[in-house]
Amino acid sequence: MKARAAVAWEPKKPLVIEEIEVEGPEEGEVLLKVVATGVCHTDAFTLSGDDPEGAFPCVLGHEGGGIVEKVGEGVSSLAPGDKVVTLFSPQCRECVHCVDPRTNLCMAIRAEQNLGHLPDGTTRLSRDGEDIRHFMGTSTFAEYTVMPEIALAKINPEAPLDHACLFACGLSTGLGAAMYTAKVEPGTTCAVFGAGMVGLGAVAGARLMGAERIICVDLSEDRLELAKGQGATDLKVADENTVQWILDETGGMGADYTFEATGLVKVMEQAVEATRMAWGLCTVAGVAGKGETLDIVPRLLITGRRVAGSSFGGVKGRDQVPELVDRWMAGDIDIDPFISHELSLEEVNRGFELMEAQDGIRSVIRF
Ligand SMILES: NC(=O)c1ccc[n+]([C@@H]2O[C@H](COP(=O)([O-])OP(=O)(O)OC[C@H]3O[C@@H](n4cnc5c(N)ncnc54)[C@H](O)[C@@H]3O)[C@@H](O)[C@H]2O)c1
Ligand SMILES: [Zn+2]
Ligand SMILES: [Zn+2]
Repeated sequence: MKARAAVAWEPKKPLVIEEIEVEGPEEGEVLLKVVATGVCHTDAFTLSGDDPEGAFPCVLGHEGGGIVEKVGEGVSSLAPGDKVVTLFSPQCRECVHCVDPRTNLCMAIRAEQNLGHLPDGTTRLSRDGEDIRHFMGTSTFAEYTVMPEIALAKINPEAPLDHACLFACGLSTGLGAAMYTAKVEPGTTCAVFGAGMVGLGAVAGARLMGAERIICVDLSEDRLELAKGQGATDLKVADENTVQWILDETGGMGADYTFEATGLVKVMEQAVEATRMAWGLCTVAGVAGKGETLDIVPRLLITGRRVAGSSFGGVKGRDQVPELVDRWMAGDIDIDPFISHELSLEEVNRGFELMEAQDGIRSVIRF
């Protein structure tokens, strides 16, 4: 079938709206009518050419919400008409990691997904006979896309997709970092570094888990105000004394849980240093630049601090994204303040500009 899509023909060039050919779905795949999609830093990172795994031409976009249009052979968990959120982090429910409660890192389709292919090693997207790669197994900057069944979370049919799409990436990553990776205990003190989509999600997740104090640190006062709306109790404009300030605020001990959501290794170091001795846990959610390393004084670890990484917030997508969406529908999570701009597909490049300018938290494209 024909569909309009924003194609990234090469790095560093604006996306071009094209009419592309979408084939399939083949066995185990689903044809998805995309209803809304967020524009995220990871799309910009790959478009910048700095992503060593970026393959062009491709259709970017990975924060999608849509409706199942058609299912391929063998697809049993989804049917036409189902509302779904896309998962760049799939859940096959069968691999060694999926059956273990300690991780969400499904092993089923990683290799081909990283190459821009569907699991069988081919693509369903093309234009004038030229193959176009998939991106993160999702490619949501298109009216229609084809995805593996295991990379779609079926959500509440009442959930508006132009909001629910945020659960496809940053929001679930932040919520999950607090809820599933750190498993914040009630009555504790948390410190969140960064108040973008991920950090704000971590603030909300810490609140849902019953944290007593939630310190949020960012360079932007506007973003700190948003953190307050999500439940932050203490706000700190970042400066060279951030760590000392947190220590002073916590009787010299540091926070029970810290969360890093900036992608800056210097801030990751601060997050480790601001963690409480004896049992403090630092959860790193930010993605650092290629080749960068994190320096930690080993004494901080010997004296009981721990460091954990969190990919997609440790969220097992097909099981837990629907649960998070239900909590939002129940009024436990307020996501309206995160949607700063609504754009059409034709305005996708403006979405990148707004993100670059840090204008708002998320632009959402509606089809
Ligand atoms: N682990 C995952 O699966 C996953 C998923 C999505 C995004 N990410 C990563 O999470 C990070 C955050 O994503 P985002 O969308 O929220 O980004 P963002 O750019 O919107 O937010 C980052 C925030 O950090 C703040 N900041 C910058 N320097 C700071 C400092 N010194 N101290 C405190 N705050 C500072 C910025 O002002 C900004 O508000 C990125 O690195 C992104 O790549 C990871
Ligand atoms: Zn993203
Ligand atoms: Zn798996």
